[in-house]
Amino acid sequence: MGQLQSCCPGLLTGLTFPISWLKYRMKKIAVLCSGRGSNLEALIKNKEAGILQAEIAVVLSDNPDAPALAIARGHDVKALHQDPGPKKTWLTPEIEAQWVQILKDHSVDLVCLAGFMRIIKKPLLDAFTGRILNIHPSLLPAFPGLEVQKKALEYGVKFSGCTVHFVDDSVDGGPIITQAVVPILDSDTPDTLAARILNEEHRIYTEAINLVLSGKYRIEGHRVIRT
Ligand code: GRF
Repeated sequence: MGQLQSCCPGLLTGLTFPISWLKYRMKKIAVLCSGRGSNLEALIKNKEAGILQAEIAVVLSDNPDAPALAIARGHDVKALHQDPGPKKTWLTPEIEAQWVQILKDHSVDLVCLAGFMRIIKKPLLDAFTGRILNIHPSLLPAFPGLEVQKKALEYGVKFSGCTVHFVDDSVDGGPIITQAVVPILDSDTPDTLAARILNEEHRIYTEAINLVLSGKYRIEGHRVIRT
């Protein structure tokens, strides 16, 4: 007892620890993926390096063969394939409610979409209002949707990049948290451009998650302003 008291007096007095220590809990995120999982891998590595200020509580995938699941498990991160139901591009309300329950069971604070190929609907939006992020490989609002590197090249823009934004009921239209710019080269193909954009994605997603979890921002209209 004496030894315990001398090393941890707060255990016995209850008064020695600052109150903030008692309230502190590492925030928990879930990452939803459908495929390759390079953004997930970057988040895991940034967590391991102490750069991502969050615990990755669970990875969920609608695709049982998603490499993202294997990446997570290879790093001892819990990863589940979850039934997506009968629809190709969204989850029915009943199914989405099951996904919400899993997120709640894991005490998730923030849901991060990383290559999740389904439109998010009401059960999830209502349960995690203002707490769902997405990463998109263009400078939104330019080129929402799919095959965006090809669209950027065909349009002839000289700069593209990536965007992390809050998810709302629009497609790739929620308030923008952060962006990174990538110059387009005359020699670029969709693949070479995608690879350079991906490097930036792997950097800014962690930054955006840290910002949102810190709470040091406010939203004015459609603007996310750091505080
Ligand atoms: C990324 O380009 C992301 O911006 C987009 O889908 C792609 C997913 O890649 N939403 P990965 O699965 O993270 O490698």
